[in-house]
Amino acid sequence: MEADKKRTTQTASDRDLSEQIKKVTKDVHVRAESTDLMLSFQRGQVTLQQYKLLLCSLYEIYRALEEEMDRNCDHPSVAPIYFPAELARLASIEKDLEFFFGGDWREKIVVPAATKRYCHRIKQIGRENPEYLIAHAYTRYLGDLSGGQVLGRIAQKSLKLSSSDGLRFFTFPGVSSPNLFKQLYRSRMNSVELTEEQRSEVLEEAVRAFEFNIQVFEDLQKMMTASDDEPQMWTGHSKPATTLQLGGTALQTNPLFRLVLGLLVAVATVSVGLYAL
Ligand code: HEM
Repeated sequence: MEADKKRTTQTASDRDLSEQIKKVTKDVHVRAESTDLMLSFQRGQVTLQQYKLLLCSLYEIYRALEEEMDRNCDHPSVAPIYFPAELARLASIEKDLEFFFGGDWREKIVVPAATKRYCHRIKQIGRENPEYLIAHAYTRYLGDLSGGQVLGRIAQKSLKLSSSDGLRFFTFPGVSSPNLFKQLYRSRMNSVELTEEQRSEVLEEAVRAFEFNIQVFEDLQKMMTASDDEPQMWTGHSKPATTLQLGGTALQTNPLFRLVLGLLVAVATVSVGLYAL
């Protein structure tokens, strides 16, 4: 009888979405932790440039996520895990960006292609499958309340930041105990009613959410290693990410620039020729 009871309890917890999601994302979590950018963080080697670029991407990601969570806050799959007062990150990231880039930070931020793809997916599911938002909210918010808390302390030391300025992203004033809050969050996740099909799709989406994060980190790392200089900040949000180039690369590969340069050389050559006559 005791054994039967144990089996029933085990089955119940194995059926919990919070347990299943943790299980299916275990391997991809290890991969996310092991990206070069996350390793730099863990080793206390993150540079100010890396951190600023990461904040730019996080701004776009949370803007998309929180817009979709707000829009779908009454949806039966979203309402139980909707905690804007405790979790919302956008206003904190805005303050961090203002601290690092100044009042005109909106004109200076860089949004790489992988970040755009991630945001595009969040917006798409907000419109088409709001229940998948559980997967994205879990991946970001529970991550921020777990390893993210350690990363915040490491970043403060490695970037030699003396106050909370620039580090507000990591601070959750509305959460007094991250561990207790995570327990509450998991129980709310488990209370969401999903069909079997929806459940397995949410699990798939969670793996995808981690993959998106990995791609964002890899993209940022590539941008930093492509040039030792400051990444060139482009102005305006609407320009496609593909136009963002580092250092002199844009000049070397831009066909219009090459055409204009060619014309200038031709005009100069003709002028010298005429002058010589
Ligand atoms: C340096 C990188 C990272 C470290 C050191 C780290 C560390 C950790 C640790 C120790 C936990 C377990 C906390 C607990 O059991 O209470 C955890 C949980 C978690 N992490 Fe990370 N993590 C890192 C990166 C990431 C990234 C990049 C993501 C996703 C974008 C992420 C998402 C999560 C999630 C969703 C959980 C909650 C798991 C659950 O309880 O269901 N982590 N992390």
